[in-house]
Amino acid sequence: MSRKGIHIERLTKRYGSGDTAFLALKDVNMHVAPGEVVGLIGPSGSGKSTLLKCLGAVIDPTSGRMTLGDTVIYDDGWQVPDLRALRRDQIGFVFQAPYLIQFLDATDNVALLPMLAGVPNDEARRRALELLTALDVQHRATAMPSQLSGGEQQRVAIARGLVNRPPVILADEPTAPLDSQRAMAVIRILNDMARRLETAIIVVTHDEKIIPTFKRIYHIRDGVTHEEAGEGRGFE
Ligand SMILES: Nc1ncnc2c1ncn2[C@@H]1O[C@H](COP(=O)(O)OP(=O)(O)OP(=O)(O)O)[C@@H](O)[C@H]1O
Ligand SMILES: [Mg+2]
Repeated sequence: MSRKGIHIERLTKRYGSGDTAFLALKDVNMHVAPGEVVGLIGPSGSGKSTLLKCLGAVIDPTSGRMTLGDTVIYDDGWQVPDLRALRRDQIGFVFQAPYLIQFLDATDNVALLPMLAGVPNDEARRRALELLTALDVQHRATAMPSQLSGGEQQRVAIARGLVNRPPVILADEPTAPLDSQRAMAVIRILNDMARRLETAIIVVTHDEKIIPTFKRIYHIRDGVTHEEAGEGRGFE
């Protein structure tokens, strides 16, 4: 896949059917260029996680169109034969909850993805440790998830989302449990990755500390998106 970013057009998502049907996404339009980090902001229940899950092929949209790079992945139906491969190879996901594997230590939670992609174990662990170091959690590298604080678990989950250097990263409230210095470190790492690897990144956040760092922001309300220029203050 060439790195041409993310396009979403007229995306809708209906949960349930009949009397209990609920239209969580009504009209979502979004574009993220390679190398760009955009913010996605909106009230609780506005559809932010739903949108990331549709784009990340975790749930099925109802209609619309989504393109990653040159590939139309969804056009009123999935257009790729292997959604699991799409998730594994193209998308780095940082979920709203960390979802770590409880019987693997911090390093192996991160190293597992490159291992699954065929990277030798030593090299996968080296990459994992490099990211854990960048996220200032290297001292907990051999701890099990149950021994980690909420913020430490979140940083391990962030490392896992980045470790395969996917062309697209979708981060759902990545900095919520972090103090402002560590939140800013996460934003710096995401911006570095975007610039160096032409990654297209969407960050869902309520975090007042990081909102001013975005150059472009999408607001979502009741399942409808609106684009706005951000302060773009950067992250130094
Ligand atoms: N599996 C589901 N079945 C039915 N409705 C759902 C489901 N998941 C989410 N919803 C509803 O869809 C709407 C959007 O939910 P979503 O999780 O996308 O919101 P959000 O913007 O991420 O909110 P928050 O900021 O609280 O995380 C909400 O009204 C929610 O109750
Ligand atoms: Mg959410």
